[in-house]
Amino acid sequence: MMPTSDEEFFNSLLKKPTVFKNISCLSVTYIPPHLPHREEELRTLAKYFKTIFEEKDEPLRKISITGPTGSGKTTLAKRFGQLLENIAKQKNFRLVYINCRIYKSPYLIISTLARQLNKAIPPRGYSFEELQDLLIRLLDFYSQKILLILDEVDYLISRAGTDFLYTLLRISEMTTKQWISYIFIARNLNFVHSLDASTQSSFQTSHISLDRYFEADLRDIIKSRSELAFYDGVITEDATELIADIASKSGDARYAIELLWGAGQCADDENSPIVYPDHIRKAKALIHPEIRREVILTLTLHQKLVLLAAIRKLKHTKNAYISTNDAISSYKLLCEEYNENPRKHTQIWTYLKELSKQDIISTKISGEGMRGKTTLISIPDISVEAIEDFLVKTIENQKKTIEHR
Ligand SMILES: Nc1ncnc2c1ncn2[C@@H]1O[C@H](COP(=O)(O)OP(=O)(O)OP(=O)(O)O)[C@@H](O)[C@H]1O
Ligand SMILES: [Mg+2]
Repeated sequence: MMPTSDEEFFNSLLKKPTVFKNISCLSVTYIPPHLPHREEELRTLAKYFKTIFEEKDEPLRKISITGPTGSGKTTLAKRFGQLLENIAKQKNFRLVYINCRIYKSPYLIISTLARQLNKAIPPRGYSFEELQDLLIRLLDFYSQKILLILDEVDYLISRAGTDFLYTLLRISEMTTKQWISYIFIARNLNFVHSLDASTQSSFQTSHISLDRYFEADLRDIIKSRSELAFYDGVITEDATELIADIASKSGDARYAIELLWGAGQCADDENSPIVYPDHIRKAKALIHPEIRREVILTLTLHQKLVLLAAIRKLKHTKNAYISTNDAISSYKLLCEEYNENPRKHTQIWTYLKELSKQDIISTKISGEGMRGKTTLISIPDISVEAIEDFLVKTIENQKKTIEHR
């Protein structure tokens, strides 16, 4: 019988049988207790940082972790941080995780560090130099060991340059003891190329490079995550095999886990107690490995509008590239549609540069065959439709929250 009221519908949803024992074990923020195929790297980290809790004066400890998307960089570092926190319960230790895509400036990062030590520090109001001095004094005052994980540091360096790295490392030189140890995470080591020779070599010597996952690795990862998230027998060998096969094209564990989650949702929608290959194929049609939704969510409203404008134009013209002027005129139309004041040309240019730095769009200068030189825009390797739907939804949500304020 069809439920008669919203309340009954909601109740029936809550009572509906599900294949998930604990769906939160598949969320993006969940850190699994066991990381198949990253055990060795976890040990390397432990050996490298074992001196953190020793009393004697130690040299600065810093290590970089690199690897392609979905190779487990963030998860490996966070899992190591958790292990240290567990060991260090009695000790004066603090783990600080900062994602540079969200904390986009050196100032924000230093102030976040200072506020971790003392909540009363206001987030703004100091000059950068004052803030550095304050942090040095706080570190010595609280005498607390800190492991700072700076994730996506390559992104910050492409925005703010390498000076910031020197500033951070200098802070450590100016305290009475090495209070801070560092894990730097980036896609690759290109970010060290513009550093001076000795800093460069120190980054190269303490470095963990993660490979993309192969099919067999992904199979083990899917199995271990399925055991946490699903009831016994829901995910068959066949299903594990198929997901590993699909995700092995990119070697991206994030995609494998999204497929697992999506396939489980499809099984629930169809009241099936088992995840069948067909559920995985349906999930595959809805999930695209190249779109990092977290990244799109960090864009401002007008950056999203510029991106959506470029996508619409690319779709409309069916060309691989569009000119910047085309993108700008499409953006202006979109602003009308969403009742927004279009930004000035220089600002739109800045947005395009930002999107390109974040690898969301790619740009190149036109070659032969076009009059004059112009910048051309394309969107690499993605299904434009999928990103368009997601963008439209987030823009609409953002507008709603702005209007309700
Ligand atoms: N060895 C593993 N075992 C279990 N889950 C894993 C493993 N490696 C990665 N994952 C899962 O895969 C997803 C992606 O991993 P993670 O976010 O660490 O990748 P990343 O290398 O930081 O990617 P990006 O460069 O895009 O930030 C996460 O949900 C993580 O839990
Ligand atoms: Mg990451």
